[in-house]
Amino acid sequence: MSEHLRFGVWAPVYGTWASFHHPEEPVDASWDRTSALIRDAERLGYETALIAQHLINPFGEQHDQLETWTATAALAALTERIELIAAVKPYLHHPVVLAKQAAQIEEISRGRFGINLVNAWYKPELERAGIGFAEHDQRYAYGAEWLHVVRGLLAGQRVDFRGEHFRVEDYRLRPIGTHRPRPAIYVGGESEPARQLAAAQADTWFLNGQPLDDVRALVDDGAARPRGGDPLRFALSAFVIARETDAEAQEVLQHQWELAERDKATWEGLVADADPKAVMFRTFARNPHIGTNGGTAAGLVGSYDTVAKRILEFRELGIGTLMLQFQPFEAEQRRFAAEVIPRYRELAGEDVST
Ligand SMILES: Cc1cc2nc3c(=O)[nH]c(=O)nc-3n(C[C@H](O)[C@H](O)[C@H](O)COP(=O)(O)O)c2cc1C
Repeated sequence: MSEHLRFGVWAPVYGTWASFHHPEEPVDASWDRTSALIRDAERLGYETALIAQHLINPFGEQHDQLETWTATAALAALTERIELIAAVKPYLHHPVVLAKQAAQIEEISRGRFGINLVNAWYKPELERAGIGFAEHDQRYAYGAEWLHVVRGLLAGQRVDFRGEHFRVEDYRLRPIGTHRPRPAIYVGGESEPARQLAAAQADTWFLNGQPLDDVRALVDDGAARPRGGDPLRFALSAFVIARETDAEAQEVLQHQWELAERDKATWEGLVADADPKAVMFRTFARNPHIGTNGGTAAGLVGSYDTVAKRILEFRELGIGTLMLQFQPFEAEQRRFAAEVIPRYRELAGEDVST
């Protein structure tokens, strides 16, 4: 586990992480917004940012969608300290090309880059491109080979690989390892093959937001799996609603639920386009929430003290990174940095001043 808990933010690649009708947050997936938001996050002390990947906005093709890899490269040039994690769906990129791009962003960022391997759930994007949408476990088998190649290349190895999906011969990339041995590797997903892949090849397993006991069970499962090298680390996604009092936060949550009513058809459309075998959608159905990827199901809703205490509970069960969503994003990420992070650091006895 890292020495202190790291706070991060989800770049607003869809234009919003919650309501499409919030009075104080126009839907905006533009580069201008993301670059300003991430630079602000860095100034506020957030240590990492996740740039999710979709080519078509899964909430509806009429909505804008930020492109992950080009945006992350530009963010790498515009920031100095914050880690930048780009999501990648293996079927969209040949592993040799992707490894080269990842190595370049690692150079531009001077050792602040990570990839988050995600094995896809949104069918139309791949189907309409003619790539096809393979069956759930097949996608993981493909992803495991893909990551094996990418990981080897990023570690500076000469890669010779013959698998079911890829044949790579005598391949080596340069420059590699200028700033550290290789970029960070994350895997997001909850199914059995996702767990195997995370334990076998990732540094960090990315979890969807969910109640404490469910997160504990996932962390215990991940930690018990055999693997080589350093212990597996854990990151958790969550949507935050923090206010002076618990009652005020609950009122805001209630308002978000009212707003969510207006997006009901949009969400139903998204679920209809999703792989029914994607395990994370079952988790979402069990835990109604605001936000994506579990959102408020992680329980970061309440007074500043309540939220800080809940974060400490996650920390104590092994979460090393919290990746956060807010609405309206810019104002709430500022509030969280001012009100919750200092309370959490105090509670946890974490000194991050040096
Ligand atoms: C933190 C996190 C981030 C994710 N980001 C993306 C993403 O950017 N694009 C995407 O298609 N899926 C994303 N996913 C979804 C995973 O790909 C998803 O869990 C998978 O498609 C379904 O696999 P499963 O059955 O193993 O849960 C993310 C998942 C997590 C936990």
